[in-house]
Amino acid sequence: MLKVDVIIGMQHGDEGKGKVTHHLLRKGGYTHCVRYNGGCNAGHTIYHNGEKFVTHHIPAGVFFGVKSIIGPGCVVDIHKFFDEIKMLREGGIEVYDKIFIAKNAHIIQGTHQRVDSREAKLGTTRTGNGPCYSDKYARMGKRAEDYPILEDYLVDMYEEFYLAYPDAKVLCEGAQGAELDIDWGDYPYVTSSHCTTAGACLNGFPPSSIRNVIGVAKAYETYVGTKQFQPESEVFNDLQVAGQEFGATTGRKRQCNWMSLPNLERIIKMNGVTNLIFNKMDVLESVGSWSVYVDHKRNNLFTFQNKEQFCDYVKSYFNMVDVVFSGSPEKV
Ligand code: IMP
Ligand code: MG
Repeated sequence: MLKVDVIIGMQHGDEGKGKVTHHLLRKGGYTHCVRYNGGCNAGHTIYHNGEKFVTHHIPAGVFFGVKSIIGPGCVVDIHKFFDEIKMLREGGIEVYDKIFIAKNAHIIQGTHQRVDSREAKLGTTRTGNGPCYSDKYARMGKRAEDYPILEDYLVDMYEEFYLAYPDAKVLCEGAQGAELDIDWGDYPYVTSSHCTTAGACLNGFPPSSIRNVIGVAKAYETYVGTKQFQPESEVFNDLQVAGQEFGATTGRKRQCNWMSLPNLERIIKMNGVTNLIFNKMDVLESVGSWSVYVDHKRNNLFTFQNKEQFCDYVKSYFNMVDVVFSGSPEKV
Protein backbone atom coordinates (compact mmCIF):
# COMPACT_ATOMS: atom_id res chain seq x y z
CA MET A 1 0.00 0.00 0.00
CA LEU A 2 1.09 3.54 -0.76
CA LYS A 3 2.48 5.31 2.33
CA VAL A 4 3.33 8.98 2.48
CA ASP A 5 5.21 11.07 5.06
CA VAL A 6 4.99 14.83 4.72
CA ILE A 7 7.49 17.48 5.74
CA ILE A 8 5.94 20.90 6.23
CA GLY A 9 7.47 24.23 7.19
CA MET A 10 5.52 25.66 10.13
CA GLN A 11 6.60 29.30 9.86
CA HIS A 12 7.64 31.51 6.93
CA GLY A 13 9.97 29.13 5.11
CA ASP A 14 13.68 28.65 5.81
CA GLU A 15 13.00 26.45 8.83
CA GLY A 16 15.57 23.87 7.75
CA LYS A 17 13.27 21.49 5.88
CA GLY A 18 16.06 20.55 3.46
CA LYS A 19 18.19 19.25 6.32
CA VAL A 20 15.31 17.22 7.77
CA THR A 21 14.45 15.74 4.36
CA HIS A 22 18.08 14.79 3.86
CA HIS A 23 18.21 13.19 7.32
CA LEU A 24 15.06 11.11 6.79
CA LEU A 25 16.22 9.95 3.36
CA ARG A 26 19.60 8.92 4.73
CA LYS A 27 17.82 6.70 7.27
CA GLY A 28 16.26 4.96 4.27
CA GLY A 29 12.92 3.30 3.68
CA TYR A 30 11.66 5.67 0.99
CA THR A 31 11.24 4.77 -2.67
CA HIS A 32 10.31 8.32 -3.79
CA CYS A 33 10.79 11.92 -2.78
CA VAL A 34 8.22 14.41 -4.08
CA ARG A 35 8.34 18.21 -3.93
CA TYR A 36 4.71 19.21 -3.60
CA ASN A 37 4.52 23.00 -3.88
CA GLY A 38 6.34 26.13 -4.97
CA GLY A 39 9.04 26.63 -7.53
CA CYS A 40 12.44 28.22 -7.72
CA ASN A 41 11.37 30.78 -5.11
CA ALA A 42 12.46 28.10 -2.64
CA GLY A 43 16.04 27.56 -1.55
CA HIS A 44 16.96 24.40 0.33
CA THR A 45 20.38 24.33 1.94
CA ILE A 46 21.69 20.80 2.26
CA TYR A 47 25.01 19.45 3.53
CA HIS A 48 25.82 16.20 1.80
CA ASN A 49 29.00 14.39 2.82
CA GLY A 50 30.29 17.67 4.23
CA GLU A 51 29.63 19.64 1.06
CA LYS A 52 27.07 22.45 0.87
CA PHE A 53 24.40 22.37 -1.86
CA VAL A 54 21.59 24.89 -2.41
CA THR A 55 18.71 23.43 -4.41
CA HIS A 56 15.65 25.29 -5.67
CA HIS A 57 13.62 22.78 -7.66
CA ILE A 58 15.00 19.29 -7.27
CA PRO A 59 13.91 17.21 -4.26
CA ALA A 60 16.60 15.98 -1.86
CA GLY A 61 15.97 12.33 -2.75
CA VAL A 62 18.50 12.68 -5.53
CA PHE A 63 21.35 12.79 -2.99
CA PHE A 64 20.58 9.17 -2.09
CA GLY A 65 19.59 7.75 -5.45
CA VAL A 66 15.92 7.96 -4.48
CA LYS A 67 13.57 8.74 -7.35
CA SER A 68 12.81 12.45 -7.05
CA ILE A 69 9.72 14.03 -8.55
CA ILE A 70 8.75 17.67 -8.89
CA GLY A 71 5.03 17.26 -8.30
CA PRO A 72 2.00 18.76 -10.07
CA GLY A 73 1.59 21.28 -7.23
CA CYS A 74 4.85 22.90 -8.31
CA VAL A 75 5.82 25.39 -10.98
CA VAL A 76 9.07 24.90 -12.87
CA ASP A 77 11.59 27.25 -14.45
CA ILE A 78 13.12 25.08 -17.19
CA HIS A 79 16.45 26.94 -17.35
CA LYS A 80 16.92 26.77 -13.60
CA PHE A 81 15.91 23.11 -13.63
CA PHE A 82 18.67 22.23 -16.11
CA ASP A 83 21.17 24.52 -14.31
CA GLU A 84 20.44 22.64 -11.13
CA ILE A 85 20.96 19.25 -12.75
CA LYS A 86 24.32 20.53 -13.99
CA MET A 87 25.25 21.84 -10.52
CA LEU A 88 24.39 18.47 -8.94
CA ARG A 89 26.34 16.53 -11.57
CA GLU A 90 29.36 18.76 -11.05
CA GLY A 91 29.03 18.12 -7.33
CA GLY A 92 29.32 14.39 -7.98
CA ILE A 93 25.63 13.53 -7.52
CA GLU A 94 24.26 10.80 -9.80
CA VAL A 95 21.14 12.23 -11.41
CA TYR A 96 20.52 9.90 -14.34
CA ASP A 97 17.02 8.41 -14.20
CA LYS A 98 16.45 9.90 -10.74
CA ILE A 99 14.89 13.28 -11.51
CA PHE A 100 11.36 13.68 -12.86
CA ILE A 101 8.68 16.31 -13.34
CA ALA A 102 4.96 15.56 -13.14
CA LYS A 103 3.58 16.08 -16.61
CA ASN A 104 0.85 18.34 -15.23
CA ALA A 105 3.22 20.65 -13.31
CA HIS A 106 3.12 24.18 -14.70
CA ILE A 107 6.02 25.94 -16.38
CA ILE A 108 7.26 29.44 -15.52
CA GLN A 109 7.61 31.60 -18.62
CA GLY A 110 9.58 34.77 -19.34
CA THR A 111 6.43 36.88 -19.07
CA HIS A 112 5.85 35.53 -15.54
CA GLN A 113 9.26 36.70 -14.44
CA ARG A 114 8.78 40.10 -15.98
CA VAL A 115 5.42 40.60 -14.26
CA ASP A 116 6.86 39.36 -10.95
CA SER A 117 9.82 41.75 -11.20
CA ARG A 118 7.44 44.68 -11.43
CA GLU A 119 5.49 43.47 -8.40
CA ALA A 120 7.45 45.14 -5.59
CA LYS A 121 4.58 45.52 -3.14
CA LEU A 122 4.96 42.16 -1.39
CA GLY A 123 8.69 41.66 -1.77
CA THR A 124 8.37 38.44 -3.75
CA THR A 125 11.42 36.47 -4.88
CA ARG A 126 10.78 37.79 -8.45
CA THR A 127 11.14 34.30 -9.85
CA GLY A 128 7.81 34.35 -11.70
CA ASN A 129 6.19 32.02 -9.21
CA GLY A 130 2.99 33.97 -8.45
CA PRO A 131 2.21 34.96 -12.07
CA CYS A 132 2.72 31.33 -13.16
CA TYR A 133 0.14 30.14 -10.62
CA SER A 134 -2.15 33.00 -11.76
CA ASP A 135 -2.05 31.71 -15.32
CA LYS A 136 -2.57 28.15 -14.12
CA TYR A 137 -5.81 29.12 -12.38
CA ALA A 138 -6.83 31.37 -15.25
CA ARG A 139 -6.45 28.23 -17.42
CA MET A 140 -3.93 29.95 -19.62
CA GLY A 141 -0.82 28.16 -18.38
CA LYS A 142 1.58 25.75 -20.03
CA ARG A 143 2.38 22.40 -18.47
CA ALA A 144 5.54 20.32 -18.47
CA GLU A 145 4.00 17.94 -21.02
CA ASP A 146 3.80 20.83 -23.51
CA TYR A 147 7.63 21.02 -23.76
CA PRO A 148 9.53 18.40 -25.91
CA ILE A 149 12.77 19.33 -24.08
CA LEU A 150 11.31 17.85 -20.89
CA GLU A 151 10.13 14.61 -22.51
CA ASP A 152 12.72 12.38 -20.80
CA TYR A 153 11.81 13.75 -17.40
CA LEU A 154 8.03 13.46 -17.46
CA VAL A 155 6.08 11.27 -15.11
CA ASP A 156 2.36 10.60 -14.71
CA MET A 157 1.52 10.53 -11.00
CA TYR A 158 -1.29 7.99 -11.39
CA GLU A 159 0.79 5.55 -13.43
CA GLU A 160 3.75 5.95 -11.07
CA PHE A 161 2.00 5.50 -7.74
CA TYR A 162 -1.02 3.38 -8.55
CA LEU A 163 0.14 1.14 -11.42
CA ALA A 164 3.96 0.92 -11.44
CA TYR A 165 4.74 1.27 -7.69
CA PRO A 166 1.57 0.73 -5.64
CA ASP A 167 3.73 -0.02 -2.57
CA ALA A 168 5.71 3.18 -2.84
CA LYS A 169 6.99 4.84 0.33
CA VAL A 170 7.00 8.54 -0.40
CA LEU A 171 8.59 11.44 1.41
CA CYS A 172 6.82 14.65 0.44
CA GLU A 173 9.08 17.64 0.75
CA GLY A 174 7.39 21.02 1.22
CA ALA A 175 8.68 24.42 0.24
CA GLN A 176 8.09 27.74 2.04
CA GLY A 177 6.01 27.43 5.20
CA ALA A 178 2.43 27.29 6.45
CA GLU A 179 2.56 30.98 7.47
CA LEU A 180 3.17 31.78 3.78
CA ASP A 181 0.34 29.54 2.54
CA ILE A 182 -1.97 31.23 0.05
CA ASP A 183 -5.07 30.50 2.17
CA TRP A 184 -3.76 30.35 5.75
CA GLY A 185 -0.89 32.82 5.75
CA ASP A 186 -1.00 36.57 6.37
CA TYR A 187 -2.62 37.43 3.02
CA PRO A 188 -1.45 39.17 0.84
CA TYR A 189 2.02 38.65 2.37
CA VAL A 190 2.02 35.04 1.21
CA THR A 191 3.27 32.88 -1.61
CA SER A 192 0.93 31.51 -4.30
CA SER A 193 0.93 27.82 -3.43
CA HIS A 194 -0.35 25.45 -0.76
CA CYS A 195 2.37 24.91 1.84
CA THR A 196 0.16 22.65 3.98
CA THR A 197 -0.32 18.90 4.43
CA ALA A 198 -3.38 19.27 2.21
CA GLY A 199 -1.03 20.74 -0.39
CA ALA A 200 0.83 17.42 -0.42
CA CYS A 201 -2.46 15.55 -0.94
CA LEU A 202 -3.18 17.72 -3.98
CA ASN A 203 -0.31 15.91 -5.73
CA GLY A 204 -2.39 12.76 -6.00
CA PHE A 205 -1.96 11.30 -2.50
CA PRO A 206 -5.18 10.52 -0.63
CA PRO A 207 -5.44 11.63 3.04
CA SER A 208 -5.56 7.95 4.06
CA SER A 209 -2.06 7.41 2.65
CA ILE A 210 -0.51 10.00 5.00
CA ARG A 211 1.44 8.41 7.85
CA ASN A 212 3.59 11.02 9.59
CA VAL A 213 3.55 14.78 9.23
CA ILE A 214 6.88 16.20 10.27
CA GLY A 215 6.54 19.86 11.22
CA VAL A 216 9.77 21.81 10.95
CA ALA A 217 10.20 25.06 12.87
CA LYS A 218 13.10 27.35 13.65
CA ALA A 219 13.65 28.16 17.35
CA TYR A 220 13.11 31.83 16.44
CA GLU A 221 11.20 33.13 13.39
CA THR A 222 12.42 34.77 10.24
CA TYR A 223 10.54 36.34 7.35
CA VAL A 224 11.62 37.86 4.03
CA GLY A 225 9.25 40.31 2.40
CA THR A 226 8.06 43.87 2.71
CA LYS A 227 5.82 43.78 5.79
CA GLN A 228 7.33 44.93 9.09
CA PHE A 229 8.16 41.80 11.05
CA GLN A 230 11.26 42.46 13.13
CA PRO A 231 10.69 44.54 16.29
CA GLU A 232 13.11 47.26 17.43
CA SER A 233 15.72 45.55 19.56
CA GLU A 234 19.40 44.82 19.22
CA VAL A 235 18.88 41.14 19.99
CA PHE A 236 17.18 40.58 16.62
CA ASN A 237 20.14 42.05 14.76
CA ASP A 238 22.30 39.64 16.76
CA LEU A 239 20.07 36.73 15.70
CA GLN A 240 20.24 37.85 12.07
CA VAL A 241 24.04 37.91 12.15
CA ALA A 242 24.58 34.78 14.26
CA GLY A 243 22.06 32.80 12.21
CA GLN A 244 23.41 34.13 8.90
CA GLU A 245 19.85 35.00 8.06
CA PHE A 246 20.03 35.84 4.39
CA GLY A 247 17.59 34.38 1.82
CA ALA A 248 19.07 31.37 0.00
CA THR A 249 17.33 32.46 -3.22
CA THR A 250 17.56 36.26 -3.17
CA GLY A 251 20.32 37.03 -0.65
CA ARG A 252 18.00 39.46 1.16
CA LYS A 253 18.32 39.93 4.93
CA ARG A 254 15.69 37.95 6.78
CA GLN A 255 13.78 39.84 9.48
CA CYS A 256 13.92 38.07 12.85
CA ASN A 257 11.57 37.71 15.79
CA TRP A 258 10.89 35.26 18.63
CA MET A 259 8.63 32.38 17.74
CA SER A 260 4.95 32.40 18.63
CA LEU A 261 3.83 29.16 20.29
CA PRO A 262 0.07 29.69 19.73
CA ASN A 263 0.75 30.31 16.04
CA LEU A 264 2.66 27.03 15.90
CA GLU A 265 -0.16 25.26 17.70
CA ARG A 266 -2.60 26.46 15.05
CA ILE A 267 -0.35 25.06 12.32
CA ILE A 268 0.11 21.76 14.17
CA LYS A 269 -3.63 21.27 14.56
CA MET A 270 -4.63 22.32 11.06
CA ASN A 271 -1.99 20.11 9.44
CA GLY A 272 -2.09 17.04 11.66
CA VAL A 273 1.56 17.40 12.62
CA THR A 274 2.79 14.24 14.37
CA ASN A 275 6.50 15.02 14.84
CA LEU A 276 8.06 18.36 15.72
CA ILE A 277 11.55 19.63 15.14
CA PHE A 278 13.04 22.95 16.23
CA ASN A 279 16.17 23.96 14.33
CA LYS A 280 18.94 26.48 14.90
CA MET A 281 19.15 26.02 18.66
CA ASP A 282 22.88 26.76 18.31
CA VAL A 283 22.02 30.31 17.18
CA LEU A 284 19.94 31.03 20.31
CA GLU A 285 22.76 29.55 22.34
CA SER A 286 25.37 31.80 20.76
CA VAL A 287 23.18 34.89 21.31
CA GLY A 288 22.38 33.69 24.84
CA SER A 289 18.72 34.80 24.83
CA TRP A 290 15.70 32.52 25.24
CA SER A 291 12.20 33.86 24.63
CA VAL A 292 8.88 32.84 23.06
CA TYR A 293 5.56 34.61 22.55
CA VAL A 294 2.59 33.00 24.21
CA ASP A 295 -0.07 34.89 22.25
CA HIS A 296 -1.00 35.12 18.58
CA LYS A 297 -0.33 38.85 18.27
CA ARG A 298 3.19 38.68 19.73
CA ASN A 299 2.59 41.01 22.67
CA ASN A 300 3.08 38.57 25.49
CA LEU A 301 6.64 37.34 25.84
CA PHE A 302 8.00 34.61 28.14
CA THR A 303 11.74 34.73 28.79
CA PHE A 304 13.86 31.88 30.12
CA GLN A 305 17.21 31.73 31.89
CA ASN A 306 18.70 28.97 29.79
CA LYS A 307 18.23 26.39 27.08
CA GLU A 308 16.89 23.69 29.44
CA GLN A 309 14.07 25.93 30.69
CA PHE A 310 13.29 26.96 27.13
CA CYS A 311 13.11 23.37 25.86
CA ASP A 312 11.09 22.14 28.85
CA TYR A 313 8.53 24.89 28.39
CA VAL A 314 8.21 24.42 24.62
CA LYS A 315 7.92 20.66 25.01
CA SER A 316 5.24 20.87 27.69
CA TYR A 317 3.35 23.53 25.69
CA PHE A 318 2.75 21.17 22.78
CA ASN A 319 2.39 18.00 24.80
CA MET A 320 3.66 15.84 21.93
CA VAL A 321 5.86 12.79 22.27
CA ASP A 322 8.19 13.36 19.39
CA VAL A 323 9.83 16.78 19.81
CA VAL A 324 13.42 17.25 18.69
CA PHE A 325 15.68 20.28 19.26
CA SER A 326 18.55 20.52 16.80
CA GLY A 327 21.60 22.74 16.95
CA SER A 328 23.59 21.75 13.90
CA PRO A 329 23.22 22.87 10.27
CA GLU A 330 24.43 19.48 9.05
CA LYS A 331 22.46 17.01 11.13
CA VAL A 332 19.22 16.59 13.05
P1 IMP B 1 6.93 34.54 -3.99
O1 IMP B 1 6.76 33.16 -3.47
O2 IMP B 1 8.21 34.73 -4.76
O3 IMP B 1 5.72 35.03 -4.73
O4 IMP B 1 7.07 35.52 -2.72
C1 IMP B 1 6.00 35.73 -1.80
C2 IMP B 1 6.53 35.85 -0.38
O5 IMP B 1 7.01 34.58 0.04
C3 IMP B 1 7.71 36.82 -0.21
O6 IMP B 1 7.60 37.43 1.06
C4 IMP B 1 8.91 35.90 -0.29
O7 IMP B 1 10.04 36.44 0.36
C5 IMP B 1 8.38 34.67 0.43
N1 IMP B 1 9.04 33.42 0.04
C6 IMP B 1 8.87 32.71 -1.09
N2 IMP B 1 9.62 31.60 -1.09
C7 IMP B 1 10.28 31.59 0.07
C8 IMP B 1 11.19 30.68 0.68
O8 IMP B 1 11.53 29.62 0.14
N3 IMP B 1 11.66 31.02 1.92
C9 IMP B 1 11.27 32.16 2.53
N4 IMP B 1 10.42 33.03 2.02
C10 IMP B 1 9.91 32.75 0.81
MG1 MG C 1 14.89 28.44 2.11
